[in-house]
Amino acid sequence: MRGLPAHRLTTAHLQAAYPFVSEGGFGGRGAYIGRDLFGGAFTYDAFELYEEGVITSPNMVVAGQLGRGKSALVKSFALRQMTFGRRIVVMDPKGEYGALAHACGAEAIRLSPRGATKLNPLDRRIAQEEQLRLLYAISAAALDRSLKPFERTALERALNEAVQRLGEATIPLVVDCLLNPTEEAAAAIAADRAALTEWGREAAFELRRLVSGDLRGMFDDATSASVDLEAPMVVLDLSAVYDSDALGILMTCAAAWLQGLLARDASRKTIFVVDEAWAILANLGIAKWLQASFKLSRARGLQNIAVMHRFSDLSATGAQGSQQERVARGLLSDTETKVVYAQPHGEITATRDLLGLTDTEAALLPQLERGIALWKVGERSFLVWHRLGRTERALVDTDARMLRPASA
Ligand SMILES: Nc1ncnc2c1ncn2[C@@H]1O[C@H](COP(=O)(O)OP(=O)(O)OP(=O)(O)O)[C@@H](O)[C@H]1O
Ligand SMILES: [Mg+2]
Repeated sequence: MRGLPAHRLTTAHLQAAYPFVSEGGFGGRGAYIGRDLFGGAFTYDAFELYEEGVITSPNMVVAGQLGRGKSALVKSFALRQMTFGRRIVVMDPKGEYGALAHACGAEAIRLSPRGATKLNPLDRRIAQEEQLRLLYAISAAALDRSLKPFERTALERALNEAVQRLGEATIPLVVDCLLNPTEEAAAAIAADRAALTEWGREAAFELRRLVSGDLRGMFDDATSASVDLEAPMVVLDLSAVYDSDALGILMTCAAAWLQGLLARDASRKTIFVVDEAWAILANLGIAKWLQASFKLSRARGLQNIAVMHRFSDLSATGAQGSQQERVARGLLSDTETKVVYAQPHGEITATRDLLGLTDTEAALLPQLERGIALWKVGERSFLVWHRLGRTERALVDTDARMLRPASA
């Protein structure tokens, strides 16, 4: 609390100024998070609260300005939840969860164009409808527009044919089937080969870009046998492609692969973290994929946690603005835990509207110090100071690192 700039408030001031914002915590159920500034300890466990009917969806969004403690919260939450037997799976675009994984006896899986590990987002262990959902999403994202009905048909035929040909589809094989469909594939939908080829051509070229040139070697063949999903913590490090224009699409390929496999074992409660989720949310095609995944979370025993800077990441402007807005609202309606760190003044109106904050809560947002967030859980609000233990502190420190890439 020492040396705060004059416009910041201390926690004591916050309590005095906003006594009506918040209420006592959940009474000790779940992992310890920190201090409820209006009560005692604040604990939280989405699965418990879901079972008790406090929330109807386990998903969580964490938003806030740079360096306010979003990732630190998620990391320590992950560690603390592991002691309750939860499996933790992290999409890590900045490569900052390696130390945490190591402390838990696992090693981060590093995906890089020249690396040794491959993931097949069309892995045969993933339900075919999930594979198709991913193909639609990444094609739409790469084309930067919605797919036309005949393009969806071409993709569906190509996926079927790829599976029939080799027993397991891969993206290069789907590209080949799109560019060279068989007579039978065309006849099955009462079209001729030339027409079917035409329908799939644009998507084929875009999909090919994801598995060629700079991006070759990550998603273009069967999944490497060394990848182990049984570990209590699975971290997918995507920092090698952090600067790629296709980061969001690549993250989605990896996330779809993980979620497709996790769906096979819904009995084990899993926390699925997408850090730097703005990369996915910025693109309508894959934002829709994420929204659909949020919807599936209950059936899959998953708590999705999306981390981003601001809620306007969810509502881009431009030609697709209104569709994007719908996706954002859909995603938030399947998210009953919203953790909001400091937001700049320019973001307050959007945040208040999207989250349905009271004026008092909204006015508070620009003043929150590092580590303090407004938690909206179902219908309830809390002001929580996230406390870090000494060992945790070393594992979550991003200030000491020089490689914090600039992000949106
Ligand atoms: N509750 C806390 N108490 C003390 N220090 C904290 C707390 N939360 C975060 N920090 C420290 O603040 C630094 C920045 O935190 P963190 O990396 O979590 O920020 P972030 O919000 O994820 O930033 P970015 O938007 O850049 O990803 C870290 O070094 C971390 O150790
Ligand atoms: Mg972060």
